[in-house]
Amino acid sequence: MQSNSLVLDRVSKQFDNPQRPGETLRVLDNIRLDVRAGEFVSIVGASGCGKSTLLRLLLGLDQAFDGQILLGGKPIRGTGLERGIVFQDHRLFPWLTVRENIAVGLKNSPLSAREKTEAVREHLALVGLEAFADAYPQQISGGMAQRVAIARGLVNRPSVLLLDEPFGALDALTRTRLQNELQGIWARERITMVLVTHDVDEAVFLGDRVVVMQPNPGRIRRVLDVDLPRPRNRSDSAFITLRDDLLSDFIAPGQA
Ligand SMILES: Nc1ncnc2c1ncn2[C@@H]1O[C@H](COP(=O)(O)OP(=O)(O)OP(=O)(O)O)[C@@H](O)[C@H]1O
Ligand SMILES: [Mg+2]
Repeated sequence: MQSNSLVLDRVSKQFDNPQRPGETLRVLDNIRLDVRAGEFVSIVGASGCGKSTLLRLLLGLDQAFDGQILLGGKPIRGTGLERGIVFQDHRLFPWLTVRENIAVGLKNSPLSAREKTEAVREHLALVGLEAFADAYPQQISGGMAQRVAIARGLVNRPSVLLLDEPFGALDALTRTRLQNELQGIWARERITMVLVTHDVDEAVFLGDRVVVMQPNPGRIRRVLDVDLPRPRNRSDSAFITLRDDLLSDFIAPGQA
């Protein structure tokens, strides 16, 4: 299982400062994190602290950074089929059906046409959308569209799934339902998952650990173990204690 572990070793990232030409903006500062194979890590932090930037580095979309990112002991080079991603806005193609949108994830896959059809069918079932395979994105709900995005992220059977606020745009009930589904998928498939979220409750419900980031420059403030049996009970007192402890990181002294 060691082969799927993800190691961030002193990862720093700077951009050209759009406000001040010639100057740089340090967005990530010395991020160190080891994610075990099969682990679920949640990342929370204020807007602008570099969470999406960090996921882009993990995905391999941006290779201009300092430090090292190792997957299974090897430095990542660009994007790869072993890493899938789900974005906040589902980014489905409106002119493709649900089935075709999931198949987009297999564009660079070495599978045969028949194996691809089978993989898409399996993943439609995984997210419970068999009955909507031929629907277009505008014919399904926001929650269903996010399920399609999750199926597309998983269809290559990646060892790592990166999720950038996947449920941020959904209503509270749909969000809770999809959190339960994601927890079920993770428990069954044992994929390493890294979830960025604004929702502290979601971070504790899903994470083996919660990484709290802070801004200017983006860095890790602390890492909390969530040592609670799964599936977690949101009204359990240990759950609430952990959630409140995390929330305290986001409430400035004097505001509490
Ligand atoms: N291409 C870029 N050029 C310059 N600055 C950038 C670029 N991309 C991001 N930034 C800056 O990097 C910082 C971190 O951005 P990022 O999108 O990673 O934050 P975030 O934690 O995901 O925020 P949010 O919670 O709002 O999604 C911000 O200050 C942003 O303005
Ligand atoms: Mg972001």
